[in-house]
Amino acid sequence: MNIKYKEITIRTAVEHDAYTLLKWWNDGNVMAHAGFPNGLNETVESINNVITHNKERMFELCIIEFNDIPIGEINYRKIDEDTVEIGIKICDFSYQNKGYGKIILSLFIDTLLNVLNFKKIILDTNLNNVPAQKLYLSIGFKQVRINKDAWKNQIGELQSSIDYELDQISFKSYL
Ligand SMILES: CC(C)(COP(=O)(O)OP(=O)(O)OC[C@H]1O[C@@H](n2cnc3c(N)ncnc32)[C@H](O)[C@@H]1OP(=O)(O)O)[C@@H](O)C(=O)NCCC(=O)NCCS
Repeated sequence: MNIKYKEITIRTAVEHDAYTLLKWWNDGNVMAHAGFPNGLNETVESINNVITHNKERMFELCIIEFNDIPIGEINYRKIDEDTVEIGIKICDFSYQNKGYGKIILSLFIDTLLNVLNFKKIILDTNLNNVPAQKLYLSIGFKQVRINKDAWKNQIGELQSSIDYELDQISFKSYL
């Protein structure tokens, strides 16, 4: 993946990115939304393992850059021939809530649907994550179900999530 649009680049992660990812993944403030308020306790080696086994796992981890500075990550995982699951995280808080999420997601989804030819995109988010829900709805995701008290986070608190899906017809690009 190598997408460039104005100040934004979305590119496949490489080994060198392990140091940036380590900083983000071990930071509880960055990872709380995913259920890890104490961070992931990763090492450079464990992250390199994720990066280098991307293709075998039908998973691609990408770095989001703004004017060549890494500000977050975005990924997709192939579920079947037609379906991918995606995840987005703007890890540098100073770049959140400025409209970049809509642009980044539009770029990424456009590539998944129109270049890689997937037909359906799925994702889920925490019921508490209002910014993410607003983003997904505004880009055309439809709510499929709410999973009430479906799992526990790292510190044993019950969490609920919402499943969403999007296809070519429902996709509203912000490009
Ligand atoms: C969720 C996230 C990707 C949204 O990207 P963003 O660039 O911050 O969002 P945008 O500025 O494009 O705004 C998208 C919508 O969310 C709203 N929004 C963004 N931040 C918000 C906040 N802190 N509080 C309330 N609404 C917010 C915007 O108003 C906008 O809504 P609108 O379409 O009704 O105008 C980003 O905040 C992020 O990465 N957060 C941390 C990780 C995370 O939660 N990832 C998603 C996990 S499923």
